[in-house]
Amino acid sequence: MECISNQELEQLIDEVRPYSQYGKLVDYIPALKEENSEDLSVSIFHVNGTFFYAGDYLKKFTLQSISKVITLALVLIQNGEEAVFERVGMEPTGDPFNSIAKLETLKPAKPLNPMINAGALAVTNMIQGKDVDEKWDRLLSFVRELVNDDQVSYNERVAKSEYDTANLNRALCYFMKQHEVIEGNIEDLLFLYTKQCAIEMNCSDLARIGAVFAANGVDPVTGRVLIPSHIARICKTFMVTCGMYNASGEFAIKVGIPAKSGVSGGIMGAVPHKCGIGIFGPALDEKGNSVAGVKLLEKMSQIYGWSIF
Ligand code: DON
Repeated sequence: MECISNQELEQLIDEVRPYSQYGKLVDYIPALKEENSEDLSVSIFHVNGTFFYAGDYLKKFTLQSISKVITLALVLIQNGEEAVFERVGMEPTGDPFNSIAKLETLKPAKPLNPMINAGALAVTNMIQGKDVDEKWDRLLSFVRELVNDDQVSYNERVAKSEYDTANLNRALCYFMKQHEVIEGNIEDLLFLYTKQCAIEMNCSDLARIGAVFAANGVDPVTGRVLIPSHIARICKTFMVTCGMYNASGEFAIKVGIPAKSGVSGGIMGAVPHKCGIGIFGPALDEKGNSVAGVKLLEKMSQIYGWSIF
């Protein structure tokens, strides 16, 4: 760890950048098709508060599925484990993140885990608040605390673009409403969920959130407890078992750290007791993970001895 430098990280991203050519930009959220598939940035935030970066580390991107870990932490804080796991399971699926297949075969029809879209929609449905605005305010305040920046917000264009085209997620919601896994107005839920997915920040902000998880919920700079340690532990465990979707097994072998990807090309990593990692590289493999980002994590994990296994 101690030998990480910005220069060394620059060298590593130059080595893995060519892998971007094997991936492609996400195609089902129109606003995300405009990214540059060669972009690559990384930041590492040590639990002692020092941080390193390389590439265009100030470039903002939307969290997409990475937001699912944060919402899960909030909802566990607000509702407790028992209430949350009554509506969402704890098992990996081995299916793509937006698959409806397992929902139909399971009895009860509760989603298998909070990282797939169905599970994440059920989790967002549990954010407390009297209406969508209050729920959103609570989520955004929590994100701002984690980043320690009250300017963090969301990308309205990306949120609207996803909301307007989210028919697969709409289908998942209607199915789950029929089976009483979720309640309330579905358009309100989709509005909140697409805003959540469009929360925007740079890779250094993301590394800082990763560092909070790495430090069991403690803010690495202020020392404040932002997430109770048992909840941070649950979130990290889901990141290991389901964070990279149906590539989580291979990722555990090759990288071996809790991590969560998003279709924007972001990846958040948390190396327990060591550091948080934020990566942005929008060219995706067929499972929806950043191609160059995963390669970079593989290399860094080997060099710095990060695998928890
Ligand atoms: O709900 C969706 O489909 C997107 N907002 C998020 C999916 C995602 O990021 C999957 N990650 N690799």
